[in-house]
Amino acid sequence: MNKNLTIAIDGPSGAGKSSVAKALAKRLNIMHLDTGAMYRTVAVALAGKGIDPADEEAVLKALPELRLELRFSEGEQQNYADGVNLNSCLRTPEASMGASDVSRYPAVRRRLVALQQDCAKSRSFVLDGRDIGTVVLPGASAKFYLDARAEVRAQRRFLDLQKMQSPQTYAEVLADVQRRDAQDMNREDSPLRQAEDAVYIDSSELTEEEVLDLIVEKLKERRLVGEAQNA
Ligand code: DC
Repeated sequence: MNKNLTIAIDGPSGAGKSSVAKALAKRLNIMHLDTGAMYRTVAVALAGKGIDPADEEAVLKALPELRLELRFSEGEQQNYADGVNLNSCLRTPEASMGASDVSRYPAVRRRLVALQQDCAKSRSFVLDGRDIGTVVLPGASAKFYLDARAEVRAQRRFLDLQKMQSPQTYAEVLADVQRRDAQDMNREDSPLRQAEDAVYIDSSELTEEEVLDLIVEKLKERRLVGEAQNA
């Protein structure tokens, strides 16, 4: 039996999953896997070879040749494709849309889901994504669905992009968020949806710290925190 602790945090883009998952992993002294970064890595690596992530045929043709590797240094996830660390290229609007595009293809999902499941077998992990509680780890120790109103998520993303000197306007960011929501929720393979046994958290009016406290409270109620600290 798998004794590792696995905490699934799913939800739409911009709900704060990655930052909360990272902080939670740090607090519990376990690993964090940002699965969105893996889809972003595939999109960026293929775009670097001149392949449009929206071109399914071209993506599927190039996929078997793509060498994907995850490394963790001091708890930080490093995403490699063909031996190159792509971490610094993963947060652009093109990487976001490209990731949403490639994530529609079952062959891409199968490949990344297998890597994610391997990680969760090896150590205790907090995983954030779209399908962790429903597909990747239906038997996860605890599941959370982190949501926020689209306008709030767009505002957070807009502020992040401004720090990166991006010229995108708020209206453009909101349109991107809504387009990605529609694509992620309506795709045929593993659409974003709340697992039946996931705890729903609306972070629209909450700080990251408040979300974190809420999650830790739930883990304590289920007596998972002590288990995590010993992980
Ligand atoms: O969480 P993120 O914004 O970095 O994710 C980028 C895209 O990857 C998102 O639009 C949908 C896809 N994704 C997915 O389909 N399944 C996951 N487990 C994680 C991300």
